[in-house]
Amino acid sequence: MNNKTFQEIKKRSLILMQKSCDPQHCEAHLVKVENNAKKIVKILKMEKDIDLNLLGAACYLHDLAFTKYKPGFINYFREGKRVKKIVTKFLMDFKIPDGEKKIIINAVWKHTLNFPLRRLNKNEGDYAKILQDADILDMLSPERLLLLAGSAKKFFYYKALKIFSRRASFWTIRHIGLFLNYPELAKESWT
Ligand SMILES: [Fe+2]
Repeated sequence: MNNKTFQEIKKRSLILMQKSCDPQHCEAHLVKVENNAKKIVKILKMEKDIDLNLLGAACYLHDLAFTKYKPGFINYFREGKRVKKIVTKFLMDFKIPDGEKKIIINAVWKHTLNFPLRRLNKNEGDYAKILQDADILDMLSPERLLLLAGSAKKFFYYKALKIFSRRASFWTIRHIGLFLNYPELAKESWT
């Protein structure tokens, strides 16, 4: 994917994400996920196999479901299908090869249900695996867990998650490899 197309996708996605129903899924999160994804590519020495613009596009599009749907238990289970539909429509405006569209759509669709269910993308392509890991490494970071406090006041879903996360976060952070497609990434620092 050329840089111009990536920048346009990023710009339009960030405009849409200003309407995000969820403070947990904001611009800062998307930037962090892209940075994590680039770092994963470097650590795993996958530079030759991965198009960073294509991966970056998937990163900026992966949470678009929150522009239409509030966080909650229903969205937790339906987010994958919802974001697949939204991103398929979004990409209609772009003249990019079908193969690239397929990679982005598959990665955003399959990034969900990792924590706490551990529905990992072990049998998916590299982009789906990297995006899912980049996302969970931010979701389970101390900064993001702190943000839950603010969100818990607004959404019952986060209140429940906060109670759970308080008990589980220390354990999870110590065992983050269980929630990664590439468990070796657990050894690195992600703050
Ligand atoms: Fe995310």
